[in-house]
Amino acid sequence: MTEAVRYEVEGGIVNLVLDDPSQSANTMNQAYADSMAKAVDRLVDEIAADADSIKGVIISSAKKTFFAGGDLKLMTQSTPADAQRLFDEVEAIKATLRKLETAGKPVVAAINGAALGGGLEIALAAHHRIVADVRLELGLPEVSLGLLPGGGGVTRTVRMFGLQDALMNILLQGPRVQPAKAKELGLIDEIVPADELLSAAKAWIESVQGDADAATQPWDRKGYRMPGGTPSNPKLAANLPAFPAMLRKQTKGAHYKAPRNILAAAVEGASTDFETATRIESRYLVELIVGQQFKNMTQAFFFDLGAINAGASRPEGIPPTKAEKVAVLGAGMMGAGIAYVSARAGMEVVLKDISLEAAEKGKDYSVKLLDKAVQRGKMTQEKADEVLARITPTDDYALLEGSDFVVEAVFESVKLKHEVFAEVQKVVKPDALLGSNTSTLPITILAEGVDRPEDFIGIHFFSPVDKMPLVEIIAGEKTNPEAIARVIDYTKAIKKTPIVVGDSRGFFTSRVIGTFVNEGIGMLAEGVNPAAIERATSIAGFPAPVLQLSDELNLELMTKIRNEAKAAVEADGGTYTPHAAEAVIDKMIELGRPSRLKGAGFYEYADGKRTGLWSGLAEEFPVADTQPDFEDLKERLTFIMSLETVKCLEEGVLRTIPDANIGSIFGIGFPPLQGGAIQYINGYEAADGSIGVEAFTARAQELAATYGSRFDPPALLLEKAKNGEKFA
Ligand code: NAI
Repeated sequence: MTEAVRYEVEGGIVNLVLDDPSQSANTMNQAYADSMAKAVDRLVDEIAADADSIKGVIISSAKKTFFAGGDLKLMTQSTPADAQRLFDEVEAIKATLRKLETAGKPVVAAINGAALGGGLEIALAAHHRIVADVRLELGLPEVSLGLLPGGGGVTRTVRMFGLQDALMNILLQGPRVQPAKAKELGLIDEIVPADELLSAAKAWIESVQGDADAATQPWDRKGYRMPGGTPSNPKLAANLPAFPAMLRKQTKGAHYKAPRNILAAAVEGASTDFETATRIESRYLVELIVGQQFKNMTQAFFFDLGAINAGASRPEGIPPTKAEKVAVLGAGMMGAGIAYVSARAGMEVVLKDISLEAAEKGKDYSVKLLDKAVQRGKMTQEKADEVLARITPTDDYALLEGSDFVVEAVFESVKLKHEVFAEVQKVVKPDALLGSNTSTLPITILAEGVDRPEDFIGIHFFSPVDKMPLVEIIAGEKTNPEAIARVIDYTKAIKKTPIVVGDSRGFFTSRVIGTFVNEGIGMLAEGVNPAAIERATSIAGFPAPVLQLSDELNLELMTKIRNEAKAAVEADGGTYTPHAAEAVIDKMIELGRPSRLKGAGFYEYADGKRTGLWSGLAEEFPVADTQPDFEDLKERLTFIMSLETVKCLEEGVLRTIPDANIGSIFGIGFPPLQGGAIQYINGYEAADGSIGVEAFTARAQELAATYGSRFDPPALLLEKAKNGEKFA
C-alpha cells in the first residue's frame, strides 16, 4: 500500500512527503495519522541505531496545497458519544508530532501551498518554517468554523508569542495571511522562490549541523520563559480578566463557544507543562466538535459557501462569460459603490448621472476609497491610478456605447427606471445584460420597459457596496438562464457572493428582514421593555439590535413598502391583516421619529451619533408589569425569520439551501453561530434536549399558540417534521 506520508532519504536528510494517494489534497484522516506515526517511529529507530546517519528532517508536500486540515465532513457527523474516541485520536496525532519535535534532529517545514488549520499545526511542530514566495494562505482559522486549533496550535502559538499576542493576533480572529504577513507575525522564518524551496530546506539543515538549539523548540530548552510571562505573573494576571470582557464585547453577548474555549485552553495551558497543555487543548477541541455550534458554522461557512463559490446556483451548460464595459446608471450612494467594485475588478466603467457634476461626485467616492487603500499599504499608487482611470463620469448616454453589462441605480421609481432603460438599450451592445439594483420593485414589471426582458435581471447590492459580501440576483418571469450565469460570473469577478432568488415582493432578503423588524417593534406594543428587546436580539447573535436596525432602515420607507403590499393584496381581492407593529410605526412617524437619517427614532442621536434609547418610549409604549420569558423574545426573533425563509423555499423564491443559509447570514444578519436560517431549523436544540426539524416545529407550534398564527409552521416544514427529514 502506498503511504499518505512517504519516507525518503537523501544525503542523510529524511524527507517526510505528505502525499495521500487517495485524495487530491492531504487531510488529517486516519491514513495520515497511521502513516505519519509509522514514519516518525522509523526515524526514531534509525536515530537510535546510528544518530550520525541522519542530519535532519524536511516535512514537504507533493500536493498543490501543503495540507488541508481536518476532515470536516467526518467531524460534523460526530456526537457526544464519540467524545472519548475523538480525544484519543487527536492525542495520537499530536503525540506523533511531539515525538518528531523532540527526536533531537533539526526539523524544517517546506511549505509550498496553503497551510491552514491542521496544516499549519504540522508546520508549527517543526523547528524552522520556509515558505514558497507565491500567493498562499497561512493561518489558524478554526474559530470561524466554531473550532479551536487543537492539533497543538493553541499550545505552540502561546509558547511562541505569549498569551496576549497569540490570542489577539492569531487565535481569536483566525486571520488567513499571505507569506509576508506570516513572517511579520513570526509564524514563519523564511520566504524563498518556489523552485528553491527544497534546496533552501536542505541548506538550513546543513547550516545548523552541530547546533543543538536548532533541533529543539524554545519551550523545551533550559531556562525557557514564556513571552509576556505565565498567568501566575502578577502583571499578566491583572490583565487576564479583561479577555472575557473583550470577548463579550466582540460577540455582543452572543454565546460563541469557540472563542471561549480557545481562551480557556490558552490560559489554562499556559499555566502548565507542554504535555498537560496539549491534553487540555484536546479536551476543549473535542467539546466543540461534538457540539451543535461547530456543525452549524461549518455547514454555512464551509459547505454552503463552498457550494456557492463552486457555482451551485449557476445554470448549467453555459460557457463562462466576462463583463468588459459596465454602464452604471445613477452615481448616488449605490451607483458610486458599484462603479468602484467593478473598476477594481478590471472592468471599464461609465458612470452616468443627470449632471456631470453628480457623476463626478460619484467618482470621488472611488478616489476616497483608493486613497485609503494606498495609505494603508493595501495598494500601490500606480495600481490605484489605473483603477481610477477606468471610471468615466458622464451625463451623456452616448458614452455608454459598447457597454456589455448595465447596472441601473437611479431613484426607486418604476417610471424613472423605464425611462432610463428606454434610452440605455438604444446605445449599449445589442446583447448587453440589463441589470437593476432596485431594492423593492418587481423585476418582471421593470422588464416591461425594455425590448429584451429575457436579458433583464435584478442585481441587488447591499450598502456599503465595497464592504457587504452579498449580491441578491433576482430572476424575473422572463429572465433567461444566460442572464443569471452572466451576473454570477460578474459577482465572482468583483469577489462577491451571489444568491439567486425569484421575483417576490421584497425578494428574499428584504422580505425576511421585514418579518424580523415587525416582530421586534411589535413587542413594544405588547409592553416589552425596549432594553430587553435589544438585549434579546444581541444575545441571539444578530449583528445589530432590532430597534437600532429599524432606525437605520427608516420607518417611513417601511410604511411605503407596507402600503404597496397592502394595495397588492387588495387588488387581488384579498383582505390585508395589519401587524401589531404598524400602530407603533405610525405613532413614531407621527411623533417625528422615523429614522437615524432624520436624527430621531427609537434611539436619540446627537451629531449623527446614537446616544441611547429614546427616553420617551416608556411613556408612549408603557412597559407591562409582567415581562415575557427572555428565551421567548430571542426565539421569536429567530423563528420568525426561519419560518419566512421556509415559505420562500416553498414558493420557489429560494432555490437552494446554501442560498438560504448564506443569504440569511450575509444579507439579513441571521446569527452566524446558528449557521443560517435553515441550518437553524436542522440543528435546533430544544430546551428538553431534542434536536432538529421536529423539535423546531413543535416549538413553532408552541409560539403560535402563545403569540399568534404567524408562527404556524408552513406545510413544507410540517411535512419534513412528519417524515423525520432534514432540509438538505
Ligand atoms: P441615491 O439617491 O443616492 O442615488 C440615485 C442617483 O440617481 C442620484 O445621484 C440621481 O441624481 C441619479 N439619477 C436620477 N435620475 C437619473 C437619470 N435619469 N439618469 C441617471 N442618473 C439619475 O440613491 P441610492 O441609495 O444610491 O439608490 C439607488 C437605487 O438602489 C434605488 O433603486 C434603491 O432602491 C436601490 N438600493 C438602495 C440601497 C441603499 O441602501 N440605499 C440598497 C440596495 C438597493
